[in-house]
Amino acid sequence: MTDWLRNSVFYQIYPQSFLDTNADGIGDLPGVTAKLDYIKDLGCNAIWLNPIYDSPFLDAGYDVRDYKKIAPRYGTMGDFEHLLAEMHKRDMKLLMDLVPGHTSDTHEWFQAAKKAERNEFSDRYIFTECVWDAPSEYRLMCGLCERDGNYMVNYFSSQPALNYGFYHVKYPEWQKSADSPEAWATVEALKDIMRFWLNKGIDGFRVDMADSLVKNDDEKIATANIWRSVRQMMDECYPDAVLISEWSDPLRSIVNSGFHADFYLDHQNNGYNYLFRCKSGDDNRSFFADNAHGDIEEFLADYIPGYTCSKDHGYICFMTNNHDMPRAPFYMSDDIIKLSHAFMMTMPGVPFVYYGDEIAMRYRTDLVSKEGGYSRTGSRTPMQWNFEKNHGFSDADEEMLYLPVDNCENAPTVEGQKGQDGSVYENLRSLIYIRKENPELSNDSEFEIVYARHNEYPFVYRRGSFTAFVNPSNDTKEVDYAANGALVQYSIGGYDIGENTVTIHGRSFLLLKH
Ligand code: GLC
Ligand code: CA
Repeated sequence: MTDWLRNSVFYQIYPQSFLDTNADGIGDLPGVTAKLDYIKDLGCNAIWLNPIYDSPFLDAGYDVRDYKKIAPRYGTMGDFEHLLAEMHKRDMKLLMDLVPGHTSDTHEWFQAAKKAERNEFSDRYIFTECVWDAPSEYRLMCGLCERDGNYMVNYFSSQPALNYGFYHVKYPEWQKSADSPEAWATVEALKDIMRFWLNKGIDGFRVDMADSLVKNDDEKIATANIWRSVRQMMDECYPDAVLISEWSDPLRSIVNSGFHADFYLDHQNNGYNYLFRCKSGDDNRSFFADNAHGDIEEFLADYIPGYTCSKDHGYICFMTNNHDMPRAPFYMSDDIIKLSHAFMMTMPGVPFVYYGDEIAMRYRTDLVSKEGGYSRTGSRTPMQWNFEKNHGFSDADEEMLYLPVDNCENAPTVEGQKGQDGSVYENLRSLIYIRKENPELSNDSEFEIVYARHNEYPFVYRRGSFTAFVNPSNDTKEVDYAANGALVQYSIGGYDIGENTVTIHGRSFLLLKH
C-alpha cells in the first residue's frame, strides 16, 4: 500500500474562498501556493483541492466543461504546475477532485452527443430512444436537444450522467449493459483524464460520487468492477498515487472497489451523524454536543463493521467538515469542537481538516445560494486570515467578493488564534503534531475500545500504548482504569488519575501514554 497515506493529515481547500492574490474577489492557485507554509505549519502534509477545471460553475466546478484545462479564474496551467512543484519541494502531496459520473452540459462531449446525427460521442451519455420515451424512475431531461431522446442527469439538471452502462438492463432499446464496449469506452476516457494529471505528478484523486457510475447497480457490483480496473492502472503505472472515494461504504469502496480510503460522510443516522451532526430543530442527540446526551453505541454500531472489514485494505477518513455540510459551530460550541478535533486526531484513518475549521469559522445561514451551493453556501465563505480588509482574503472591494466575509464582531481569524493558548487553532495543531510524532497514533495503527456504554459518557479507546478519554457531557465521569503511572500526553479540561480509576471532568479530553 502507498506508504505516505499512513502518516498523512489532509487540508481541504475550496479554492475560490481561500486567498485571492490578484484582487478580483475570488481565490486562486497562487493563493494556495502562498499559504503552503501555513498549511504545513498547521501539521497538514497533504491537500485536497476542490475542482479547479474549466466550468460554467452551476455546481461550483463539479460541472466540468474541460477536464484538462484550469478555470481561468483560478490561474493558468503554469500556476498549477508551480503549485505542485512547491508542494513537492515541501514534501506535501496533492489530491485533485475527479468527477467521473457526469460532466457539465457545456462539455464538448455532450455538445456532440446532443446532435441528431450519430457521432463518436453519441453513446458517451445516456439517452432514451425517442423523446416520448421517458420512464419516470429515471431523472431525465426532456425536449432540450435536436437528437430525438431524453438524457439522464446525475445531480443537477446541468450535469448529464456519463454512460457506464446498466447492471440490470431494463430497457434494452436504449440502456447499454455495464460490460458493453460503449460503457468501457467511457472508462477509457476517464482513465485518459486521470493519466493527464497523474503524468503531471499529482498524488491522486478524491473521487466525487464514486458510487454513481453504473446505473441499476444497487449492490454496486459493476461499479466496483470499473474501479478495480482503474486501481489496476494506478498500481501498474502510478504506484504511489491514491484514490479516495466520496462513498461512505468501506466494504464497497475500499474492499470491493480498491479505493485506498473512503470518506466518512454525514448521512442521516450513520455513525458520523451520531457523533457530530445529529440535530433536528433544537434537539441535538450527537455524542459531541453542548449538554451532550448522545449514544456512543450508535456510532460504533455503524463504524466498527466498516472499520473491521476495511482496516487491512485502506482507511476511513474522518473530516472536520467539507464543502457540502454545515460547519461544526452550527451544532456545537468551541469547547466541544476542540474535543471533536481531539477525537478525530486520535482515531485511526486519514483525517481531513476543511479550510477554516482550524479556527472554527461559522456556518452562515443568511446567504443567497452561490454557484449551486444552496444550503452549502454558508460553509464556503472566504477564509479569515487576519484583522485587515476582508480578513486578509482579498484586496478587492467588498461587493466584488465571491461570497461575503464574516464581518461579525467576534469572527475568528488565524491571526487572532495563532499563539493563543487554548484556541481552537492551537488545540488542533498540537493534536496533529502528537499524531505525527507517535507512530502508534498513525492512520493504520491498532484501535481498541476500552469503555463504551449505551447512552453513557465517556468514550475510552486505546491506540497502542496510548489511551484516550473523551467526555463531551457536562458531568464528571469515573471509569475503572489502572493508569499505572502513565504519562499525560495531552489534555483539555480536567481529570484526576487515581490508583484504579480515571476521573474525567465534563467537557474534557485526556490522552495517556503508557
Ligand atoms: C459531490 C460534491 C458536491 C457536488 C456533487 C455533484 O457530492 O461533493 O459538492 O455538488 O458531488 O458533483
Ligand atoms: Ca483571484
